[in-house]
Amino acid sequence: MTATRSVPAPALAVVGATGAVGSVLLQMLSQRADVWGGIRLIASARSAGRRLVVRGEEVEVLALTEDAFDGLGGGDVAVFLTPAEVSARWAPAVTARGAVVVDRSAAFREDPEVPLVVPEVNGKAARMRPRGIVAGPDCVTAAMIAALGALHAAYELVDLTVSSYEAASAGGRSGTEALRRQIALVAGTALGEQTGDVRRAVGEDTGPFAAPLALNVVPWSGELREDGWSSQELAVRSQTRRILELEALPVAVTCVRVPVLTGHSLTVRARFESEVDAGRAREILEAAPGVVLADDPAAGEFPTPVDAAGTDPAWVGRMRASLDDPHSLEFFVCADNLRHGAALNALQTAELIAGEFAYFTL
Ligand SMILES: NC(=O)c1ccc[n+]([C@@H]2O[C@H](COP(=O)([O-])OP(=O)(O)OC[C@H]3O[C@@H](n4cnc5c(N)ncnc54)[C@H](OP(=O)(O)O)[C@@H]3O)[C@@H](O)[C@H]2O)c1
Repeated sequence: MTATRSVPAPALAVVGATGAVGSVLLQMLSQRADVWGGIRLIASARSAGRRLVVRGEEVEVLALTEDAFDGLGGGDVAVFLTPAEVSARWAPAVTARGAVVVDRSAAFREDPEVPLVVPEVNGKAARMRPRGIVAGPDCVTAAMIAALGALHAAYELVDLTVSSYEAASAGGRSGTEALRRQIALVAGTALGEQTGDVRRAVGEDTGPFAAPLALNVVPWSGELREDGWSSQELAVRSQTRRILELEALPVAVTCVRVPVLTGHSLTVRARFESEVDAGRAREILEAAPGVVLADDPAAGEFPTPVDAAGTDPAWVGRMRASLDDPHSLEFFVCADNLRHGAALNALQTAELIAGEFAYFTL
């Protein structure tokens, strides 16, 4: 005879709880169905002892040490919202205790033994995790992948061209602080129409950006490599291929940083094996999980990062059939990089894993 017995609610450790993504994730824990038992907050030694509000209660932040993971075990989850080197160093301390790591950094995204998971597209992949680690994509790939996945299922994607317009907060708290500081500096300066005026107002300290970001755009994000590509561009290419299981998909991508605090925008040109129809594509996206269509520009309905910030879905608009190619669609996407692009993905994945352990069979 088979009986089912409930087990205690799993524990959740949030590593990087004090960061830009961590702060959003803590708010979201109060807004989503609560599947967690104890929640522990972990950050660097700089933040140890700070008290942050989770589910309406203050919780003290622990320093990241071996001891911080004591008591975690099978069925528990640790989400890492930390720089890649911190995730790489500390994830094994969690998996050694039998708990699962959900990592939002770049540390494991290329590891074939670590599934790269977007629950709306390939949630089942989270079950196959030989290292006990599940990764999520970068925030640019995350913004477009649910829409692309739905269109790919209908039409078969064969070629992709993407440009990103990326917000400052993708550079973490230091990115947001740098843009705020620069905006205050240029707002307090009488500016002419010359670029040099902005450079003079901002000064030498451009923060994590290669040039002033206020009243400017910077033509790459991530680390610039010797061959001219940026790490972010390579990430978008390889992660799109991996999640859609299209190993040889041609991807042309240019990543650009713009003076927006939060909310990434993308222009996407997607070519498909089948001929496409913009009206049918809109219907497909209306039914796609994690996507909201906002596509009536004449009536003022179109996505912007200002409107996408603070929301869960990826917003798609400006859907057009290509003028020159009956197989191609062109569209615009906006999504909150901190929320949709990181915290939501981490929580949805963690919840999937928690769900696996909610009941077991005797
Ligand atoms: N921002 C985005 O839009 C976005 C989107 C997708 C993925 N991600 C990825 O998510 C991760 C977090 O990004 P973020 O934007 O939240 O960065 P962030 O604002 O710089 O926050 C980093 C977090 O990591 C902690 N940390 C840093 N060094 C540490 C160390 N040596 N030991 C322990 N904790 C340490 C920080 O703690 P302290 O406060 O104590 O320093 C803070 O909680 C990164 O891997 C990033 O690439 C970010």
